[in-house]
Amino acid sequence: MPRLPELIVALDVQTRAEAERLVRLLRPAVRFFKVGPVLFTACGPDAVRIVHDHGGQVFLDLKFFDIPRTVEEAVRQAARLGVTMLTVHTLGGVEMMGRAVRAAHTSPSPPRLIGVTLPTHMEEAEMRAAGIEGRPHEAVVRLARLAHRAGLHGVVCAAPEVAAVKETCGPEFLTVVPGIRSQPVQDDDQARTGDPSSAAGAGADYLVLGRPVLQAQDPLGAVRGVLGALR
Ligand code: C5P
Repeated sequence: MPRLPELIVALDVQTRAEAERLVRLLRPAVRFFKVGPVLFTACGPDAVRIVHDHGGQVFLDLKFFDIPRTVEEAVRQAARLGVTMLTVHTLGGVEMMGRAVRAAHTSPSPPRLIGVTLPTHMEEAEMRAAGIEGRPHEAVVRLARLAHRAGLHGVVCAAPEVAAVKETCGPEFLTVVPGIRSQPVQDDDQARTGDPSSAAGAGADYLVLGRPVLQAQDPLGAVRGVLGALR
C-alpha cells in the first residue's frame, strides 16, 4: 500500500492579502503551499514569507528554464529564501539540471528540486505541433529519466503518468501531481487530469490543488473532502 500523498495548495491569487487569507484559513489542514508565477510576480519574495510566517512550507513553482549559469544563480537565490521545493524545466537538459542540483547543495538546507515535464494542459495534438514526439506518458517518462540522471528529486507529472515514472525512476523518485479533479471546475484548461484516489493509488507523493480549493465556497471544507477521500 503506497503512503498517502501530501496536499499542496496552489496560491494562484493576485494579491498578498488574498494569499494571506488563504494560508491563515487552510493552515490547520495544509502544510505545503505552492507559490507560482502569478503571486511571485505580484508580491516577490514576500509571497514566500507569508507562508513561512504561518509555519508552512513553500513549493516555489517558477519553472526555471534558461542557460545553465542563469538557472544555477536563480536556484541559489531561491534556496536563500528557504523554500522547501522548487521547479526547474527538464527541457533545459542534464547540464542545466545538474547545475541546479549543485546550486541547491550550497544551501545549509537544500531545497528539493523537481523537474517540470509536460504541462498537464498538453495532449498529443499540441505536443506534435510543438515537435514533441510520442504520447504524453512516453514524453513524460523520457524527461523524467533525464531528470533522474541529472540528480533531481522528482518530477511534476499527471496522475495517469505516475506509475510509469515510478517504474522507470524508482519508488523514491518524487511525483508531484497537478490537474487533480473530483468534479469539474470553471474554465478548466487542464487535459491530463485524475481524481485524488487514483493519483494516490498510483503512488503520487504530492497532489497539487488549485481551483478545486480556490473556487470552492468553503476552501477548508474542500481540502478536508480530499483528505477524507484519501483515507
Ligand atoms: O487550478 P489547478 O488545480 O489546475 O492548478 C494546478 C496548479 O499546478 C497551477 O498552479 C499550475 O500552474 C500548476 N501546474 C500544472 N501543471 C504542471 C505544472 C504546474 O497545472 N505541469
